[in-house]
Amino acid sequence: MKALILSGGMGTRLRPFTCSIPKQLVPVANKPILVHCLENVRDIGVRDVAVVVGDRAEEVRAVVGDGSRHGLNVTYLPQEAPLGLAHCVAIAEDFLGDDDFVMYLGDNILAEGITEAARAFRADRSAARLLLTKVADPRAYGVAEVDPDGRVRALVEKPQQPRSDLAVIGVYFFTAAVHEAVKAIEPSARGELEITDAIQHLVRRGDRVVAEEYAGYWKDTGSPDDLLDCNRVLLDRITPRVRGRVDAASTVEGHVVVEAGAVVERSRLVGPLIVGEGSVVRDSELGPYTALGRDCVLEDAGIRDSIVLDGVTIQGVRGLSGSLIGRSAAVRTGEAAGRRLIIGDHTQAEVAA
Ligand code: G1P
Repeated sequence: MKALILSGGMGTRLRPFTCSIPKQLVPVANKPILVHCLENVRDIGVRDVAVVVGDRAEEVRAVVGDGSRHGLNVTYLPQEAPLGLAHCVAIAEDFLGDDDFVMYLGDNILAEGITEAARAFRADRSAARLLLTKVADPRAYGVAEVDPDGRVRALVEKPQQPRSDLAVIGVYFFTAAVHEAVKAIEPSARGELEITDAIQHLVRRGDRVVAEEYAGYWKDTGSPDDLLDCNRVLLDRITPRVRGRVDAASTVEGHVVVEAGAVVERSRLVGPLIVGEGSVVRDSELGPYTALGRDCVLEDAGIRDSIVLDGVTIQGVRGLSGSLIGRSAAVRTGEAAGRRLIIGDHTQAEVAA
């Protein structure tokens, strides 16, 4: 089995982060979302992976490289414009050949991995195997109608009147039968070749398409709140380890990771939380649910339930929560009598009235 991971897309709802970093590379629990995807794929025994990239290809390559760091053999397939998920399959046809494959949307987090679904797919090799989850508003997703035995009866992309509350998760297992289906469909109203339409084509022509509800935590990470939610869920699963230096005047509660080269002095760490490589934390209160990137400096700071990217400085500011702080940003008390902000486009700042 091979894997096709999609890492194009604009990520407008995650601006300003996505101005400087593709959304698939935004870290959750200190690891880019895309790396969580790659690890899930590796864990089902796949080695050959193609990553479909758009105009942020270079940044993706810089992080993933040839995949060897993650035990994978990664090839890149450029997509000249976001023309749809089924278009990605078409681009990958030569790479995939006659092999079965898993297609994985690079902004989806499946916290419990995909080993169960992979096992089921390998056992029955249906033309397509989908993962579903019940959602409150299915109109934003592909929606499936499924028989009690798990066979998919119909599939519609973003229906106005959904026939079920079962949304299609962004991980799909296919046999090579899908290639013909991809060639048979036309672009949708949004101008994209929808994978949902290709799968519906398989259903209509009588191929076996099955679906199962995903038992674990799933999120299509569109917004800052989605990222913070994923961050909490993934931090809840970390294995504590202290590689850096925590002085005797500091306290550590709960599951805490302090990476190599990090220094913690006179601070209170409440897990789950991660202090990234080379970061310095002094006289501060951290956590719970905080992921601090590399080479950050926190002094006299307080932050919980937040994602802090690499190279951030926080000095003299406490009570931060629910925050996403971009690379090399500085948050500090200053000389100005009022409040002074030097922040980029599409930034959101919330201060107490
Ligand atoms: C895509 C698929 C949709 C699926 C969703 C899952 O939607 O088209 O069927 O339910 O991913 O994340 P998009 O994110 O392109 O709107």
